[in-house]
Amino acid sequence: MSNYHIKNLEEYFQVYRKSVRDPENFWEEIAEENFLWRKRWDKVVEYDFSKPEISWFKGAKLNITENCIDRHLYTHGNKTAIIFEPNEPSQPAENITYQQLHERVCIFANVLKQQGIRTGDRVCIYLPMIPELAISILACARIGAIHSVVFAGFSSTALHTRINDSDCKMVITSDGSYRGGKTIDLKSIVDEALESCPNVEKVLVVKRINSEVKMKPNRDVWLQPLLDSAPIDCPPVLMDAEDPLFILYTSGSTGKPKGMVHTTAGYMVYTAYTFKNVFQYRENDVFWCTADIGWITGHSYILYGPLANGATTVMFEGIPSYPDFGRFWEVIQKHKVNQFYTAPTAIRALAKERLDFSAEYDLSSLKILGSVGEPINEEAWHWYNDNIGKKNCPIVDTWWQTETGGIMISPIPYSTPTIPTYATLPLPGIQPALMDENGNELKGNLVSGRLCIKYPWPGMARTIWGNHDRFRETYFSTFKNTYFSGDGALRDSTGYYRITGRVDDVVIVSGHNLGTAPIEDAINEHPAVAESAIVGFPHDVKGKALYGFVILKETGEGRLQENLRKEINQIITEHIGPIAKLDKIQFVTGLPKTRSGKIMRRILRKIAENDTSNLGDISTLLNPECVEEIIEGSIQIQ
Ligand code: WTA
Repeated sequence: MSNYHIKNLEEYFQVYRKSVRDPENFWEEIAEENFLWRKRWDKVVEYDFSKPEISWFKGAKLNITENCIDRHLYTHGNKTAIIFEPNEPSQPAENITYQQLHERVCIFANVLKQQGIRTGDRVCIYLPMIPELAISILACARIGAIHSVVFAGFSSTALHTRINDSDCKMVITSDGSYRGGKTIDLKSIVDEALESCPNVEKVLVVKRINSEVKMKPNRDVWLQPLLDSAPIDCPPVLMDAEDPLFILYTSGSTGKPKGMVHTTAGYMVYTAYTFKNVFQYRENDVFWCTADIGWITGHSYILYGPLANGATTVMFEGIPSYPDFGRFWEVIQKHKVNQFYTAPTAIRALAKERLDFSAEYDLSSLKILGSVGEPINEEAWHWYNDNIGKKNCPIVDTWWQTETGGIMISPIPYSTPTIPTYATLPLPGIQPALMDENGNELKGNLVSGRLCIKYPWPGMARTIWGNHDRFRETYFSTFKNTYFSGDGALRDSTGYYRITGRVDDVVIVSGHNLGTAPIEDAINEHPAVAESAIVGFPHDVKGKALYGFVILKETGEGRLQENLRKEINQIITEHIGPIAKLDKIQFVTGLPKTRSGKIMRRILRKIAENDTSNLGDISTLLNPECVEEIIEGSIQIQ
């Protein structure tokens, strides 16, 4: 029996039991059988959640690109590693073989070295979904530079905060990007961001849209001439198992974004293992994850997980609605995609369109469908199952987080029977627990509580860049000796898990994590705003949308308020990005507060959800009278 590839339910239970009984042995066998280690580890796992300190495969030496690329060259050099599907369907797709990927990564890595990047330096990558994004990430990993990819939809303020937080020396960007029928001027966003990033020495610029851009002397360099003259050989730098591989920012419920740090060996083993099992990847399959590499889903399941398995992975530059709503299905037909992994918000948006968009295309290559990023509602699940999977493809509803590095709870196709809205069972090695508010573990089935993980797994983040205290505080202090995910979940009578959503002040909008506090901070910078509170409310495409309650310094009249609404969203766009714009803005004269001055978001959430029948006891509030006014005002804007 191979631990690495589970094929039926009985085998799942056997492997799962083994993984819990003896986690060290379980992960050791997987690591031994499947990767290229330049030095073996001294210890499989060491951990102390109270500090927290976690290490996997300590003492081992390796390079992740050697595992993701070089290792496959002897047997699979001519196999396609990456299929690049451009924004314009009329443009040809590009197939990059493992051999070509090797060459391009080595050359790029040499450019990084020539431009002053050394092992351990941080490099910020702000690029659209073009091959250079994948290649620059791998080039960093080749020489042990730590990549910090920032999603290219973020604003210049969000970009500079991230660049400064991890003290990046270099930014890699492009002249611009295509997004459906539009182009976006990425370079000027970078220029604006860099006005307040004194430590960035170099900006490498990829030519993508051939627009005119300003190049700052001594700082900005076009990439192509550098690639043309760089040498082709670049031996991989041997890294320690626990050396940081990358930083990726995720929103917190308060304060600055958190730079989650993932390390080399554990992340590699975990993404490779979960990719292989959750997508039942087989030789010659074509895998497509529609996420942007700017998010963890793209890091783990467009790049590292697939490449570590020698897979063929699709990288799509465009959007699902361009040139029409059939684009996803056209791409599946064109590249004969076998596993398709997307987000519920995309499914819901596509399900609203005419069915013939999907019916027009041959989707018979599909074997497995995946969902990630937020709970998938029953209607979307059935639409996906009926129209895309033709009731023939298991749907894997995969629960995980930026912090977990890889998929944690998910069906294994052909093994775990699926039920809509259930992420089902933990993957081998994952020991979930549900806790009540007092920190007691809820044993047995038919319980619901806060979702925690009791034992470390190789892919987990090790710290928050520059702020280990915050790492402990956020994830390891709510419950003793367990990792707290911030999500709520229930366990049904058969032991299946259903994720019920965030229990903190993070709202998931179209699959993007948005902390409400940073948005409030942005709004409060508007000179007319005295105070604000933001909550999520259900939205039929986005899953959740944002509702802002705003107190003005002086109440304005109708027209003025309309302008203010625009300005508030403008400020949010500048500080965070358009994804964080508010769908509804209600001007109020007070916000419900506890006697200690904390805003009672629970009440605002109910009002935003239009469910005011059961607001609970509001008499203990400091200012109960404001609630009635807010309810009345909300009826007008619903
Ligand atoms: C939510 C994305 C329900 C959850 C990989 C989590 C989900 C947050 C699911 C992490 C799912 C992700 N069902 N909720 N299948 N997958 N989530 O860091 O609230 O962008 O905490 O990682 O998304 O979002 P992140």
